[in-house]
Amino acid sequence: MSEVIKLEIHSQIALITLNRPSAMNAINHEMRKALPEALLAAQANPAVRVIVLCGAGDRAFSAGADIKEFAPVESQAAYRQARLENNWIGAFDRITKPIIAAIHGYCLGGGLEMALACDIRVAQKGAVFGFPETGNGIIPGAGGTQRIARMIGLGRALDMVLTGDRVTAERAYEIGLVSRLADVGSLMETALQVAERIGSHPETAIKFAKEAVLASASSPLAAGLLKEIDLLSLLMNSNERLGIAIDFKEKSKK
Ligand code: CAA
Repeated sequence: MSEVIKLEIHSQIALITLNRPSAMNAINHEMRKALPEALLAAQANPAVRVIVLCGAGDRAFSAGADIKEFAPVESQAAYRQARLENNWIGAFDRITKPIIAAIHGYCLGGGLEMALACDIRVAQKGAVFGFPETGNGIIPGAGGTQRIARMIGLGRALDMVLTGDRVTAERAYEIGLVSRLADVGSLMETALQVAERIGSHPETAIKFAKEAVLASASSPLAAGLLKEIDLLSLLMNSNERLGIAIDFKEKSKK
């Protein structure tokens, strides 16, 4: 595994750390290769139930693409083709296990796009979110324009993307960009608690629950409802479900 990405397994949690603290965990070529490898390794490890993604150092989750690597492209067509062939951010979509982003400090550009590609975002107070891309003469290009609109609605998404204005952790919580706020110093504790809570539930139920909820972002309501019934049907005879019913009936007899 590369030095810019750390993968540690702690019981049923895989902790993936963006590890370029001196560059605010900016996403360089090496990280674009190593991060999908770490995600897929966590996915393939049967002991792992939940993945937590965080940034090293005390200043940033990630300040986005590594600007020092910005260079002219050979041609627009070649760039487009390369992006389609090397879709590093697409690795997130291949992970069926829940992914939690634990965010502190700057979470900008591609950093915010990574956070948006996770399932749950926990932010430490003091974190700062934003899309500086338009100011840099580009647009968010790792799913940001699509995922931010689905997450916080078109109006707020357009405001963030077009102005580039930054949003505080408290505001991010208000608008649903993150679902939990942690006090300074308790980010990892909060994120790991969420991971443990999820990991305490039956594995297949969690897998199907993620699949069903994510389907709502890409399917018409009728198709999503059908998927929900399909997935629920597969769980109806699970040992966990039937065990809970037996225990409950036993308790009420007493
Ligand atoms: N790329 C490369 N290095 C970065 C970086 C980035 N995106 N962001 C920060 N760094 C590096 C700085 O170069 C600096 O390194 P040195 O000490 O070697 O000079 C170190 O991190 C600390 O940064 P600053 O000295 O700038 O710290 P600051 O507190 O003054 O500012 C900041 C922090 C506001 C995050 C500022 O660094 C900044 O604006 N960074 C760029 C943010 C940005 O525009 N990101 C989006 C890139 S585009 C994108 O992400 C979209 C895409 O993929 C298409």
